[in-house]
Amino acid sequence: MTVEIRPIGPDEVDPWIRSLHVPFLAKADNDGVAHWVDHLEIGRTWVAADAGRFVGTSCVFTRDVTLPGVPGGLAPTVPLTAVSGVGVHTTHRRRGILSRMMGTMMSDAIDRGEPIAGLLASEAAIYGQFGFGWATSTVELSLPRRTTHLTHDAPALDLVLCGAKEAESRLPKLFDRFRLQRSGQVDRNPAYWKNVFADPKSMRPTGTSERFFAVCDDGYVAYRPSNHWDSGNPNVLHLDELFGVSPDAEAALWQYLLSVDLVDTIVAGRPVDEPIRWRLADPRSLAVTGLKDMLWIRVLDVPTALTARRYRTEGRLVLEVEPAPTSVDKHGEARPDPAAGRWVLEVGPDGSSCRSARAGERQELRLGVSELGAALLGGQDLRSRASAARVAELVPGALERADAIFATTPAPFSSTGF
Ligand SMILES: CC(C)(COP(=O)(O)OP(=O)(O)OC[C@H]1O[C@@H](n2cnc3c(N)ncnc32)[C@H](O)[C@@H]1OP(=O)(O)O)[C@@H](O)C(=O)NCCC(=O)NCCS
Repeated sequence: MTVEIRPIGPDEVDPWIRSLHVPFLAKADNDGVAHWVDHLEIGRTWVAADAGRFVGTSCVFTRDVTLPGVPGGLAPTVPLTAVSGVGVHTTHRRRGILSRMMGTMMSDAIDRGEPIAGLLASEAAIYGQFGFGWATSTVELSLPRRTTHLTHDAPALDLVLCGAKEAESRLPKLFDRFRLQRSGQVDRNPAYWKNVFADPKSMRPTGTSERFFAVCDDGYVAYRPSNHWDSGNPNVLHLDELFGVSPDAEAALWQYLLSVDLVDTIVAGRPVDEPIRWRLADPRSLAVTGLKDMLWIRVLDVPTALTARRYRTEGRLVLEVEPAPTSVDKHGEARPDPAAGRWVLEVGPDGSSCRSARAGERQELRLGVSELGAALLGGQDLRSRASAARVAELVPGALERADAIFATTPAPFSSTGF
């Protein structure tokens, strides 16, 4: 194997971005290049080079993610190794280059003491073998605006429609409050927001307008309508984000959206426990058109990850975590999975501990590291995975106990792409 995996230098950012666009079936335009330039962290951006030619890319953003909390308090956050920019050129695919880049990124994360990694997958079949588990979901909803009514008027909010400049001064602060209310939310850096407000034409979904913002002290909506009102085609309002400090505030934001004249249909990707259905005069009118995986989580340091989140119930569990099927270093040599082993987790509303099991402490539940990553954020039950032969209950009752321990509300949700 002559392909070398190495970090890029500052003068290699442009060719790295152009190389990344190839496996994503695109040519890099100026907006795409500018977007990546702002995001990339030198030292956490790698290339696979074959005789100097770039044939693969990957990078990590240093972020944090909200974990489950307990009622009445803000949820904790933990550093997240946010994997992105993964691509291998067709000329070099299926030779283990992604596996080696993944090994490089995970070793770097472990050296930095980061306990979990996360990513958004282009295809859901790719990352399970590296120990990532589907941790948060987005439900895709569609609502016929003209015939939809709430059973009761939501409270009025002091909403203003504002341009990007005003939104820039208000949305990031609001989002920082909201992201601590839900497990699964990844923080946003200035580069992320810059792109939201710049809203370059070339990065808008086909046929949609610029992004609109309606904001008040209690929440905001960001959306883009398609603009076909003069051609007789139905107009669709694509909801990007809707956050309110309370369920009532969120209902008021929905009411605002239902008042946008000329719109026929509202489409939105929302948390799986989106409550608006139960405020509709006709609850059936809110159609579920899809369910998507969003954040995939890979646990690297089991004790740190499991004790960083909060638990609502008392319990003890001995877990046997199996290694990911593919775990190699940057040279393609097998390396031990840092999450594998037998772990004793003891939890309660006031705190938790996690340590390696001692001799004689019998394992109660056997699961892959990807199942542990899925369960960590509290949105995936282990019983259904046991029914799919992905989790084994070794002691009767352990499965029910595990699901009670890991459960959380509200449902995890991730609304930040990276
Ligand atoms: C996905 C991609 C990066 C894989 O790179 P690669 O170097 O070919 O991957 P590897 O050779 O290291 O494959 C490792 C394992 O993953 C499997 N795998 C790779 N891509 C896969 C895919 N798209 N679906 C299912 N399995 C896949 C391989 O078969 C291999 O399994 P094996 O060890 O059992 O043989 C590459 O196909 C690509 O660039 N795709 C287009 C862009 C993209 O989707 N990127 C991911 C963004 S999240």
